[in-house]
Amino acid sequence: MSDIKLTNTTSSAEVRELTRLERIGAHSHIRGLGLDDSLEPRDVSMGMVGQQAARRATGIVFKMINEGKISGRAILLAGRPGTGKTAIAMGLAQALGEDTPFTTIAGSEIFSLEMSKTEALTQAFRRSIGVRIMEESEIIEGEVVEIQVDTPAGGGEKTGRLTLCTTEMETVYDLGAKMIEALTKEKVTAGDVITIDKASGRINKLGRSFTRSRDYDATGAQTRFVQCPEGELQKRKEVVHVVSLHEIDVINSRQQGFLALFAGDTGEIKSEVREQIDQKVAEWREEGKATIVPGVLFIDEVHMLDMECFSWLNRALESDMAPVLVIATNRGIAKIRGTNYKSPHGIPIDLLDRLMIISTSPYTEAETKKILIIRCEEEDVEMAEDALDLLTRIAMETSLRYAIHMIIAASLCAAKRKAPEVQIEDIKRVYSLFVDVKRSTQFLMEYQKEFMFNELDNGDDEEDEDDSDDEEEDMEEDEDDGMDE
Ligand SMILES: Nc1ncnc2c1ncn2[C@@H]1O[C@H](COP(=O)(O)OP(=O)(O)O)[C@@H](O)[C@H]1O
Ligand SMILES: [Mg+2]
Repeated sequence: MSDIKLTNTTSSAEVRELTRLERIGAHSHIRGLGLDDSLEPRDVSMGMVGQQAARRATGIVFKMINEGKISGRAILLAGRPGTGKTAIAMGLAQALGEDTPFTTIAGSEIFSLEMSKTEALTQAFRRSIGVRIMEESEIIEGEVVEIQVDTPAGGGEKTGRLTLCTTEMETVYDLGAKMIEALTKEKVTAGDVITIDKASGRINKLGRSFTRSRDYDATGAQTRFVQCPEGELQKRKEVVHVVSLHEIDVINSRQQGFLALFAGDTGEIKSEVREQIDQKVAEWREEGKATIVPGVLFIDEVHMLDMECFSWLNRALESDMAPVLVIATNRGIAKIRGTNYKSPHGIPIDLLDRLMIISTSPYTEAETKKILIIRCEEEDVEMAEDALDLLTRIAMETSLRYAIHMIIAASLCAAKRKAPEVQIEDIKRVYSLFVDVKRSTQFLMEYQKEFMFNELDNGDDEEDEDDSDDEEEDMEEDEDDGMDE
């Protein structure tokens, strides 16, 4: 491979954005970590409420990533379900902004039929490593004085002339049919300030020249006015863009082509391709053409990974290009998937040893209420104060998630009664229509004989949460048994 392709970078960036938006969903109200300049958490800010200690710690992680000097660190967010682990990770992603690659996967996504677990992990890793590439390009920048187009009488290709000026000079350029088409498409007229990329011929409209601001009534109100450029018409301009290593991999792997980025079915990528790309990127770094932007790989529900994945992570974290790894789990002492060994958080000790652990704690009633208020705003639901108090009580008794899910259902109930806002009766109605885990479990205990596959032996007096954990483990074991057969 003599040269590495980097085209279609904008389209792939769009693809990345789309997937990100789609994933946020339940966390769309989170717009950052809500920290002040000294990285102290504000009480309620950017959609974030409470969880001060965890947010403060994440702020330090943010700083570490933002400076981009440290690679291969791993952070574990540990805490009970619904304590905002995923929310904090999303806040971190938002705080880091567009230019820092942030990849989100769930532990279970690794297991697919199309590629091996380690390939899936490798792709996720390389998605999280950005390469900032500096390219110098030659452009022509000037104010359009005149565009003349000649249409030959007997048909044939159009030709024309474009006159551009700066404050100091004026030049006439000959136009071919392609450039004329491009100018027409961009609706370029006299008085526009434009740039033309000499290599690609791409035209970019910067705005209207101030000298033309008097013909204001002929333009829309949102027209942007810019100064007429100074100096030479031809300029060198530095263009910077960030692509992830994975994107470079896909674009350069011959059987896939960049279209695979849209479809998402990139398949396995040959290790030779990756080696060549790593080599090329290393060269660029030495020549000062590119820098590495270590991003973040966030693996949610990390207890779904097995020994093979964990040991891969161990090893991968040692690479100097490794992104910062953020993982989250709600497990306590649990079996490591696929083994009979129990370990804290369901993660092997040797990986745990490398982690910085941030723990999240349950919310107080006041915090819960604030989160619910924010969610009501996010879902555009008006709720009466007493209804909100009831919903908060329900959240404390059952779970935050259950209460959040009730919001939209209750608002539909209110709409059905043609009431302008959600009242207590709507909350009550939804509460009776949809049961929460506790009531459902209660029901199962009472009527288990009438269901299929009941395995509950009576006299189990453990806490609710432990119960559900045990149940899940049992289910996993069942799965494993099935596979062995
Ligand atoms: N501190 C917080 N501020 C605002 N919203 C929160 C906060 N913590 C949790 N949430 C919201 O509550 C819901 C459950 O939290 P989530 O992050 O999914 O919990 P976990 O991942 O710990 O199980 C989500 O919709 C989340 O956005
Ligand atoms: Mg979560």
